[in-house]
Amino acid sequence: DTDRIDAAASDLRAADAALALTGAGVSAPSGVPPFRGEDGVWSEYDPDAFDVWRFRREPGAFWADWLDLRADLLDADVEPNPAHDALADLSAAGHLDALVTQNIDGLHQEAGAEETVELHGNARRATCRNCGWTTSADDARERAESGDLPPRCDVCDGALKPDAVLFGEQLPRGALARARDLAADSDAMVVAGSSLTVEPAASLPAEAAETGATLILVNLEETPLDSRADYVFRADVTEVLPALREAVGE
Ligand code: APR
Repeated sequence: DTDRIDAAASDLRAADAALALTGAGVSAPSGVPPFRGEDGVWSEYDPDAFDVWRFRREPGAFWADWLDLRADLLDADVEPNPAHDALADLSAAGHLDALVTQNIDGLHQEAGAEETVELHGNARRATCRNCGWTTSADDARERAESGDLPPRCDVCDGALKPDAVLFGEQLPRGALARARDLAADSDAMVVAGSSLTVEPAASLPAEAAETGATLILVNLEETPLDSRADYVFRADVTEVLPALREAVGE
């Protein structure tokens, strides 16, 4: 694999514009369970319980389930892992223009990545659907745990919603437009830890490949983009990404 890592690294180094797209597999080594694959979140929780229609219909029951899911997803002591660090280093060294992520755990930022595009929002904040007032997810969780189901806005008493994008909800428009522009302009794209099964994120690698980008895929399982990729590393992100970062050099 070192030859393929070196080849991928030289393509990444030679790229004028490059970006990374990450999924839950990048946070899995930190103890954040992925959504699919063995012991994935959706084999334990029903995704329909977390769609935007349920939130609107019964925000209290939504929050009761959200507290359970969140407790499993985002334990307080969840830390960035070497995959997050390698991507943050690559972007700090100017080899990645941005880190587009589907993850809502904020671990890329914690690892020091500057340019992150959060396609599915961020579960570390909660916002009032009526007036836009925002508070930390911890504050919203404390209100919910003390019996406010749903936790309510200090300004207009509307129901607070976690800033994570729910199924059926629009993605943050700015984030999606920026991710699309980055994909269209890129000469290389590193796709790590995503099953590439949820749109529109899943189309970004194909959009990049259509405009000639070199695709470097790192995932433990097959993805629909494997046949389109220039490099497929069927291995752990905590091995491949640090090796890639090392091989790229300064
Ligand atoms: N190294 C490499 N790949 C890994 C690792 C690892 N250590 N751990 C897990 N994976 C792979 C799994 O094999 C799986 O294919 O990461 C992938 C994670 O896929 P999903 O769980 O589907 O996560 P993701 O692609 O981010 O899901 C997209 O779906 O549920 C919605 O909004 C949610 O953002 C999420 C979106």
